[in-house]
Amino acid sequence: MIQPEIRDISVEDMRRFGFGSYLNGGNTSPGDNKYASAADWVALADAMYQASVDDSLDGSVIPTMWGTDAVHGHNNLVGATLFPHNIGLGAMGDPVLIEAIAKATALEVRATGVDWAFAPTVATARDDRWGRTYESYSESPDVVKDYARAAVYGLQGHPGRDFLQQDSVLSSVKHFIGDGGTYLGDDQGDNRDTEQQLLNIHGQGYVSGLTAGAQIVMASFNSWHGEKVHGSYYLLTDVLKQQMGFDGFVVGDWSGHGQVKGCSNESCPQAINAGLDMFMAPTDAWRPLFYNTLAQVKSGQIPIARIDDAVTRILRVKARFGLFEQGKPSQRPYAGDQNLLGQAAHRKIARQAVRKSLVLLKNHGNLLPLSPTQHIFVAGDGAHNITKQSGGWTLTWQGTNNSNSDFPGATSILEGITEQVTVAGGVVSYDVAGNYTHKPDVAIVIFGENPYAEGHGDRTDVAYQPGDKTDLAILKRLQAAGIPVVSIFLSGRPMWVNAELNASDAFVAAWLPGSEGAGIADVILRNQRQQIQYPISGKLSFSWPNSPYIQVNEGDDPQPILFPFGYGLHYGEHDPLGDDLNETLEAATGQNSERLLYNGQMHAPWLLWLGADSQREQVTSNASRLGQVAYRTADKQVQEDAMHITFSGEGPGQVLFNSKSNFREDLRSDLLQHGELKITVNVHDIGEQPVFLRTQCDSDTQQPCGATLPLMQPAAVLLDRWQIYTVPLRCIAAAGMEFQNTTVPFALYSEGRAAFTLSKVSIVTHAEARDAPCLTVTGE
Ligand code: BGC
Ligand code: BGC
Repeated sequence: MIQPEIRDISVEDMRRFGFGSYLNGGNTSPGDNKYASAADWVALADAMYQASVDDSLDGSVIPTMWGTDAVHGHNNLVGATLFPHNIGLGAMGDPVLIEAIAKATALEVRATGVDWAFAPTVATARDDRWGRTYESYSESPDVVKDYARAAVYGLQGHPGRDFLQQDSVLSSVKHFIGDGGTYLGDDQGDNRDTEQQLLNIHGQGYVSGLTAGAQIVMASFNSWHGEKVHGSYYLLTDVLKQQMGFDGFVVGDWSGHGQVKGCSNESCPQAINAGLDMFMAPTDAWRPLFYNTLAQVKSGQIPIARIDDAVTRILRVKARFGLFEQGKPSQRPYAGDQNLLGQAAHRKIARQAVRKSLVLLKNHGNLLPLSPTQHIFVAGDGAHNITKQSGGWTLTWQGTNNSNSDFPGATSILEGITEQVTVAGGVVSYDVAGNYTHKPDVAIVIFGENPYAEGHGDRTDVAYQPGDKTDLAILKRLQAAGIPVVSIFLSGRPMWVNAELNASDAFVAAWLPGSEGAGIADVILRNQRQQIQYPISGKLSFSWPNSPYIQVNEGDDPQPILFPFGYGLHYGEHDPLGDDLNETLEAATGQNSERLLYNGQMHAPWLLWLGADSQREQVTSNASRLGQVAYRTADKQVQEDAMHITFSGEGPGQVLFNSKSNFREDLRSDLLQHGELKITVNVHDIGEQPVFLRTQCDSDTQQPCGATLPLMQPAAVLLDRWQIYTVPLRCIAAAGMEFQNTTVPFALYSEGRAAFTLSKVSIVTHAEARDAPCLTVTGE
């Protein structure tokens, strides 16, 4: 009933504890080697299998099984076929192709000795600010329902026909239930739908997926009306197992049990009692979790009948899967065959999916498809960037830290265009930043979101490049030179791109196409004889917004919708869109609330510290000094309602707010509620260096975490005046701050001389979003 992660168990642990299953997370591969081959994976699978059936220590011969996130192909393997992410597949409107994709994925997973895919995600994403929107096929429960069925058939085969044969893997539908409908699109947040909505909107992938025979359901991190699903007896047992008749098993999500009220990663009888059958227990928490669970069974806190039920379910799935007859992984068909990964037949399916997922949103004067015999200029940082076109859950968890050389056999979008144009006798020139040397006939600019996955991908709004409009500038420059512009937009969600649409003659939503970037050239280019090669046929499976702030879904009030669900132009069709979409937004009004960090006194949990060079010291009196930093209380209106800070400039100095023992505070809801940091300060002196605003966080990745932004620029500061500096939290987040793990919400830092009095620091949140610039300074 415990599923640990390969980073945290040894083969000896497997021999001793006989885990029912184990997983690799999005950042882990055998031997911690990102480039591990199919044979390396099978070798680990064999070692784990043999240890699990060795009864010398635990008396058990039950084989273990390995689960992995094969969510758009076997995406942890270098060289695997990477299919478009689910959002792109949704636009294809083709469940038959979904089944073929899932079948190809199953085979590539089989090649590595892995038994089980944590797929499909059957979330119905209703708020595109959610960073997992691209894992969802559609905002429409009907589409999710059709696709979930097809994906499960593809992974597991059809019951009564070719069910769970040796080219299949086990499928788990996830994340049960309501993950796509949390308040403000907050990952792991709270779903506040009624039970009827939960079933009608978020439950349809389970209705069809379980009917198709999915053997496993993954519980979701989210809550329903404040209660975490991992601890909900009602949802896991009454609804899923009893009402829906599910006889497979429920696996938890990544330490998800630890978030149940009263639980920790190391102990959670509540989850088992609620109906969880297998803990997903990465990190070394699995060990205490094992002993605690054992003790809870012995003491009767967990009834033995519940353990019997969970184990029966797990064994039933293993029996159906034929795990007891399959023998060790390396003996099974396909195991270790590196040629199955990224094989031509699979890439062909993926390329077809890329073609069918493209949605044409604008096509003035029928600019597309383009003749390949002209001079085509390609620009944008998505043009030759397989990392970017593949999105999250690609070789690494967030899909970052990869480069083109990590994708052998794959094609970038530029490569596809170049190949076809060259064959046809045309010319391709290319510059990321959009500077050409000879004026081209037409330009294709490929741009969009950078990779992200859960948590990191959450946004407060869906404005594209709200701060720096780099890509827009490229489009405008080309258009101003009289060059027709085709935009290829890569994204994990529909976004507010009115300005970019206005500055494009044609605009294609290409989502996250994966390894077969060349599929795009197949559609946007004609052949040598000037014929259309493939029609453009994708239809939006998500409504496209006409506002960065207002979330739109099928059936909603049409006013803030730019392109409705199902929209998508054909070639040759009349395009009604003008070049005059609204690009500006009035600052929305709403109820504001204020979280005080400091107003003459520090507000819990924050404490005041001084920092000089690498030293830090907490301030506990009304005057203190640490090296080049001096502090004393000051009077603004009443006694000691402000603090006076001096940086002598002899070394870096800072004044900072830190939580007790560096504990992480979750300020994510302030971010989501369009929070702004407001600093009331009077600068008396500033040298040649700016004073920076700095925040810090504590991330699990051990990477430095936080943001540093220039706040007071020597040339711009008005001396001896009370001023309010306002910085939206989204700008701080964009600079690298993770507000869910805040350790320092505010610090002022400088390497130069400065003296100022600070009277207030607060976070003001707004009921509705605001389109404020990253820094405003106003008189008090
Ligand atoms: C995700 C799941 C995933 C699991 C294992 C979790 O954080 O929510 O979708 O299957 O990790 O990587
Ligand atoms: C893992 C992912 C997991 C995530 C959850 C990462 O370190 O690699 O698989 O979903 O943590 O926190």
